[in-house]
This record gives sequence, structure tokens and C-alpha cells, in this order.
Amino acid sequence: MTKSIGILTSGGDSPGLNAAIRGVGKSALNHYGMQLIGFRDGFRGLMENRFMRMEAGDLSDILTRGGTLLGTSRDKPHRMPVGGKVQDMTDVIVGNYHDNHLDVLVCLGGGGTQKNALRLKEKGLNIITLPKTIDNDVALTDITFGFDTALGIATDAIDRLHSTAHSHHRIIVVEIMGHRAGWLALGAGIAGGADVILIPEIPYTVESVAEAIRERSRRGKSFSIVAIAEGALSVHEHAEQLEAQKKKEGKKKEGKKTEPEVASETQYAEKTVRLAKQLELLTGLEARITILGHLQRGGIPSAADRLLATRLGTACSDLIDKGHYGVMVAARGDSTKAVALEEVAGKVKTVPPDHPWVQSARNIGTSLGD
Ligand code: F6P
Repeated sequence: MTKSIGILTSGGDSPGLNAAIRGVGKSALNHYGMQLIGFRDGFRGLMENRFMRMEAGDLSDILTRGGTLLGTSRDKPHRMPVGGKVQDMTDVIVGNYHDNHLDVLVCLGGGGTQKNALRLKEKGLNIITLPKTIDNDVALTDITFGFDTALGIATDAIDRLHSTAHSHHRIIVVEIMGHRAGWLALGAGIAGGADVILIPEIPYTVESVAEAIRERSRRGKSFSIVAIAEGALSVHEHAEQLEAQKKKEGKKKEGKKTEPEVASETQYAEKTVRLAKQLELLTGLEARITILGHLQRGGIPSAADRLLATRLGTACSDLIDKGHYGVMVAARGDSTKAVALEEVAGKVKTVPPDHPWVQSARNIGTSLGD
């Protein structure tokens, strides 16, 4: 019997999504003789039964394209805004899966997608996920596709900021994506030679950042680049966050409803502006900010991301052929590993404070603000 695969992309877009769709699709169609149906705009498209039957021609000329040809959304099956209300649409999704006679649903996404995929698995669907996000914060995979491209873009930005910061003797605070994990800010900060790198995993004090900049001035370096991850927190903000988390857990234990807390881009930007102003006051240098934002997610994927997405995609089709479902296809060295969704869902891969990248940054004299 010909197997029928449903595929969707969910969460923030990421370079390499089209390469992954192509990897799954070409090997499923050409190598295994399976069928492929692409659902539009993530779980919303599956709920609304909006799809395209994908033939070989749909998979041509997409390898190098950024974004996702299927479209994406952050909609979750169990909390989907429909008709002005947030509703649990899981049963509709399960119904559409069966009505389309799918043998498996392949979900390309980040941390949130792994959780949603597990919920659908628990409803009896055959699911396989692939890990994508520029944040590189999906657990149990060496790396996610999208990260390498974003790392290149952010590094290039830091390179370019150097000459203007140097010319004007300024501090430039560059905000880099990553609300829960600092992989991108840390990686680009090291590769681009930022003088200070602030990440969510290592709370900072403004005084320590200012002192690192003043110390540079004393050594005749009258400019500094501060790379800050969106989710980086001062020691004070970190303590407040821990307190808020405790309250939330308390509420949960009492069976009370809690809302997911998602900081907005504006809130991140406000913090970055505040930091720049404080640094001006404490160092006497002029400061400017640059928010890299969605530039980091756009455009053509790097060679490394295309390669990663393709090999995860073909490994996914191999698993489908074997009927091995309920897993995420993780990257492990040059190979791949099927990891149970139960193991990965709900976990975040943050930067361990003693990670070799952190050690390297410290050893070359980069301040981490602590
Ligand atoms: O999860 C990936 C990511 O790019 C984060 O780094 C960033 O905080 C977030 O998405 C932005 O999301 P959106 O595009 O929905 O504003």
C-alpha cells in the first residue's frame, strides 16, 4: 500500500524549511513511491483542511529559498483562536488527519511544535517531527536547522557594526534573537568578536558591563560592541522572573488557570534601549542600538543548513518506510537518531554556563556581564 504523508511547518519560519520539505518529499516520492500532502500555515491549515498535493515539480527549485512554501503559524491545536474565541481544535485536526487517509503527519518546528506533536501522538496519530529554529534550543539534537544561517547573518552584522562603532568611538548594543537560549548571541558574539555578550543563562549587572567597557577605554579602545540576546536578564530581572515562576507553579498546584507568558518584541527592545542609556551614563561614551530582528530569519539558507535539513528530511522518510513513528529526527554527529517525542517535548536546550563556548569567550577576555 502506498503510504500517504501529511507535512506542515509550524512556529517561526527558519532558513532550511524548504530544504527539509524537499528532503522529506523527494526521498518519499522518488525513492519510496509515497504520496505527499502539504498543509498550509501550520496546524491551522490542518484544522481548516487547507492543503496542496505535492508532486515532484513542487519540490523543484525550492532548496535555496528562504521561508516556507507551505506558510506557517504559531497556532496550537489545543488553543486556537477561532471565531473570536480560543478553542481546543484537536478533534477537528484528528478528524482531518483521518479523512485525508494520512499514514503519518510530519511536523517541522521548534520547541512548541514538539509539544503539540506529542499531544497529537497521544490522540493516536502517527507523528514525526524535525527540529528547526534559529534559536538552536530544541533538546536532544546536536543542532537545529536555521541556526547556522542566522549565525552567519548575526556575525556579519557584528562585523559591520565594528567599523562604525570604531569610527564614532561609540558603544553599539546589538540585540540578537533568542528569548530562552543564548546560542545565537553567544555564537555570533564570539565569531564577530563582540566585547560583551549577554545571554539569558548568565544574568548580568549593568555595572559589570560598564566596567568591561571602561577597562577597554583605559586600554585605548574607545568603542565597544555589546551583543545581547533578547531574553538576557539583569540579576534583578532574573530574581523577579524566578519569583513569578514560583507564583505560577503555586497557582498550577492549586489547580488555578495560568496564562503562558510571552514577552513581546517591544518589551525586549525597551530593555535593550534601557541598557544602552545606562551604559552611556556609566561610561561617558555615546551608545547606539541595533535590533537585528527578523533579518536573522530571512533569505537563503546556508550550505550547512541545507545539508542538515536534507539529511534530516531523508532520514524522516526512512523512518516512515519502517513505520517508526512518534519521534523527532535528531542530528547526532554525521548521523541522525530517532528520539521519542515524550523525551523531547517540554524541554529547552539552554547554554550550560560552563559550556566550552562560554569558556572560550571568557578566556579571550570577552565579558559575559556577570
Ligand atoms: O523562535 C524563533 C524566534 O525567532 C525567536 O528567536 C524570537 O524571539 C521569536 O521567534 C520571534 O517570533 P515572531 O516572529 O513570532 O515575532
